[in-house]
Amino acid sequence: MEPTNVRSNIVGQIQHMLDHTIIKNRRFLDDEQLIKAEQLAVLDEIFNANVRNAEIHELSSHFAPVLRNDHPVHLAIWGKTGTGKTLTMSYFLNLLAEMCSKKKVPMRYEHLDLSTPRPCFRALNDLACLLNASKRYKKGISLEELMLRIEASLTDYNGYLVLFIDEVDNIKRDKDTFMTFLVRRLPQRIPAKLILVFVSNRLDWPDNLDPRVKSFLKLNEVIFKPYDAVDLQRILSIRVEKALRKNSIETGVIEKVAALSSRDHGDARQAVALLSRSAYLAEKAGTKISLELVDEASSQIEHDKYITMIRTAPPQLQIVMAAVIQTIRKKQDSPIDTSQAYATYAVFCNKTSLRPLTRRAFTDMINELDMYSLLRSSVISKGRYGRTREIAIDLPQELTDKIYEGILLNFEIRS
Ligand SMILES: Nc1ncnc2c1ncn2[C@@H]1O[C@H](COP(=O)(O)OP(=O)(O)O)[C@@H](O)[C@H]1O
Ligand SMILES: [Mg+2]
Repeated sequence: MEPTNVRSNIVGQIQHMLDHTIIKNRRFLDDEQLIKAEQLAVLDEIFNANVRNAEIHELSSHFAPVLRNDHPVHLAIWGKTGTGKTLTMSYFLNLLAEMCSKKKVPMRYEHLDLSTPRPCFRALNDLACLLNASKRYKKGISLEELMLRIEASLTDYNGYLVLFIDEVDNIKRDKDTFMTFLVRRLPQRIPAKLILVFVSNRLDWPDNLDPRVKSFLKLNEVIFKPYDAVDLQRILSIRVEKALRKNSIETGVIEKVAALSSRDHGDARQAVALLSRSAYLAEKAGTKISLELVDEASSQIEHDKYITMIRTAPPQLQIVMAAVIQTIRKKQDSPIDTSQAYATYAVFCNKTSLRPLTRRAFTDMINELDMYSLLRSSVISKGRYGRTREIAIDLPQELTDKIYEGILLNFEIRS
């Protein structure tokens, strides 16, 4: 009996999934993959230019002189993550290049994507690769050599060259060298009309520039505002239409995703991520996307954030967290004080052969965990017995368990 049951179960389950698929085109739900793999081809299909009207208008007026053979100054673009800076700029430059080519204005642009931090050497190396000036090096070649190669590759080009330096604040070492090269040296050594476009998620980026670069740098600035709920609804509607089958969402879902996202951050990337997670949950459940599923997806994403945060935290911080969780469990979920947590912590250190921190450093760790909202600690007075620090955890039980298991797994400790 048993085998046929299992068999028909599986067949039934798979059939159910097939009958209830709501995702028509997964690619449109996975931003990271989408953007990298297919770049401009799909930009056109998902980009809602209307919601970046004001910004596009400023970009147009900044770059219009190119078509009159004038030379615009450099450009700085600021705005929080997920406000469409990369998307808008790529879209815009692509269009500008088309216009230039129609009007026989020589123009080329390169997108130097620094979305992960890197030292000046790698950034210059990446730029050289974009310009076909060099291959990818690990080391063994100097910064000067890289610069010379970049210059050499441009000796014969005298049109417009737009360098779109995305997330420029991610240059971690020799930042000034990088900037000095681009701002002061490069324009003097190549015949091209150089226009630098610096994009950053941080408004304070120019404050940290070397004053000698800063005084040289003539900039026009464009600021990208966070998206509001209406903007996000428009952006999400395109995704729904591209990625999902008809009638796969209940009324109010788009509005809800947009409302949650605009309230928390105004980040379109996260809004799309919330929609995707909701769609996956719905598909698993074999239902339409409902308002409840959006809530569930939202709390899952929130949980994932905590879990990633703790997984990538320094070992000591993780062990302190595990010790706090275990001590609170032993106390039947009532708040604990620092010495109780410290005792458990010492045992953990023993198991993991980490060297135990002093009481004082331990308290610093507790404060740090408090800052990340992983726990809550407060100093309470015990009258003439002095003061003590009380520690509690406010996270949902399920999340706390996951964090705890995760840390134990990380250190290969058995619970
Ligand atoms: N105007 C828009 N239309 C459609 N999708 C958008 C728009 N702006 C942002 N997005 C979505 O948000 C994501 C992040 O946009 P991006 O340009 O990378 O932001 P930033 O560079 O400011 O961090 C994009 O991949 C896209 O899914
Ligand atoms: Mg970006």
